[in-house]
Amino acid sequence: MQDKNLIGGQWRSAHSGETFAVCDAATGEELARVPRCGALEACDAIEAAGKALQAWSGLTASTRATVLTAIAQAMRERKQEFAQIITAESGKPIDEAQGEVDYAADYFLSAADEANQLQSETIHSRRADRALCAIPESIGIVAAITPWNFPLAMLARKTAPALAVGCTQVVKPAESTPLTALAFAQLLIDVGLPAGVVNVITGDPAAIGQAWLGDGRVRKLSFTGSTAVGRLLMKSSADQVVRLSLELGGHAPFIVFSDADIPAAVAAAVSGKFRLAGQTCVCPNRFIVADNVYSEFVDQFAAVASGLRVGRGREAGVRIGPLIDDRAIVRIRNQVKDAVAKGAKIVTGGATVPVEGCLDRFFAPTVLANATAEMLCFQEETFGPLAPIAKFETESQAIEMANATPYGLAGYIFARDPNLLERVSRQLNCGIIGVNTGVISDAYAPFGGRGWSGFGREGGRWGIEEYISWKYVCAAVNG
Ligand code: SIN
Repeated sequence: MQDKNLIGGQWRSAHSGETFAVCDAATGEELARVPRCGALEACDAIEAAGKALQAWSGLTASTRATVLTAIAQAMRERKQEFAQIITAESGKPIDEAQGEVDYAADYFLSAADEANQLQSETIHSRRADRALCAIPESIGIVAAITPWNFPLAMLARKTAPALAVGCTQVVKPAESTPLTALAFAQLLIDVGLPAGVVNVITGDPAAIGQAWLGDGRVRKLSFTGSTAVGRLLMKSSADQVVRLSLELGGHAPFIVFSDADIPAAVAAAVSGKFRLAGQTCVCPNRFIVADNVYSEFVDQFAAVASGLRVGRGREAGVRIGPLIDDRAIVRIRNQVKDAVAKGAKIVTGGATVPVEGCLDRFFAPTVLANATAEMLCFQEETFGPLAPIAKFETESQAIEMANATPYGLAGYIFARDPNLLERVSRQLNCGIIGVNTGVISDAYAPFGGRGWSGFGREGGRWGIEEYISWKYVCAAVNG
C-alpha cells in the first residue's frame, strides 16, 4: 500500500517527518500512516505542477485523450485492489466500492471523448472586416480537495477534466481516506503520466487549502464537501481571484405521487437512500408521499429496509456498513431523538447495531413515519441511513415542501402521469432530478447544485468547461 506523497514524480514524506494514522472505518484498526503535510509541501506541489504545465498543456488534446483512456483502462484492471482499499478506509460495501471504480473510470473516458473534440471555434460576426475565433486554453494549475465518501470517483471527477484540457493539478484527499488517492497516484506513474502533472499531498486541510488559494499560481479549486467549508474557501479565494467549483451539501426531496408504481418507488428509495449507508450528497433526505399511498409506501419501505444486512463492507451481501466517524453517529441519533420528541414514529431501526469486532458505528436502516417540516431531519442533511417520511395532499403542497430548503442538489419524483412529471421537474429548485429512479449519477452528465449546494458542474462537456479559459482572437481582415 502506498503511504508517501507524490510531488514532482517523487514519493515524499512531510518535511517535518510527521505522519497521521489512517484507520479501518469499521474496526478503527490502523491501516497505515501517511505524511502530515502543510503549507511547505503545498508550495512544493505547486512548484512541481508549475514545472510540468508548459509541456503538458502543449500536447495535443488527442494525445492527452490517449493518456486518459489508458488511466481508465488501468483503473478497471486494478478494480479489486482499489475496491479493497476503498472499503477498508471508508467502510463502503465491497460491491459499491467496485461500482465506484467503474464510475471513476467513466470520468476518464468521458473526459477523453471531450478532449478529442476540443478545438478552436470560428465565430460568425456581422462585420466583414474581422475574423473572429475562440481558443480553448487550459486555465493553468488547478487544485482539488476531495471528500472521503467517494475517494476515487470524486478524484477522477476533478482530475480527468483538468488533464483533458491541459491543466496540471495539486490534490489533497480527505484525511480519513487518503490511501485510495495514493494508490491512484501510483497508477498515474505506472501509466506514464509525466512527473508533476498530478501531485498528491495529505495532511492539514486548512493549511494546505490556504496555501493554495493564497499563492496566485493556482487558478482554480474544485472542492466537494460541506457547505461550511465551501463558504470559507469562497472567502479565501477572493484575494487571488481563484475560480471555484463547489459541490456542497444536499437535502434531496423524494416525492411519491398517488399514481406512482409503489413497489418501483420503494425499490428506488431503498437503493438511493441506503447507498453508502446514506452518506452521499444526493441520497434522498426527505420523503414526501401522497396521503392516499402513504401507508402502503411506508410499510413496504420499512419491510425492505429492515431486511438489509448490516455489517463490515468487506463481507459479501452487506448493504449497510459503518458511518464514517463518531460525529456521524451523534448527528443521526440527535435527529431521531428530535423527530420522536416531535411526534415521529420509528417504523424500523432507530439505533446502532452491534457488529462483532467493530466500533459502535453501524446504524440500522431507519424509517420514520409522521415526519414534519419542524423536525431537524427535515431541515438538515443527515448523511446517514435515516428516512423520514412526511405526507402531502396537493401537488403544490408537495412542491412547496420539497423547495423549503436553501440546498438544491438532487430531487426525485415518482409518478406515472408524464405531464405531472414534467411540471414538477420544472418547479423543483435543484440541479439534478431523478424521474422514477433513485440513482442519477453518470460521468457523462452535469453533476452539481444550486444555492447552498454550491455551483459549477462536473462530468461530460460541462465538467471540461470549468477548466478552460477561452481566448477570443479578433483579427482585422483587409478588404
Ligand atoms: C457525492 O456524494 O458527493 C457524489 C455522489 C455521486 O456522484 O453519486
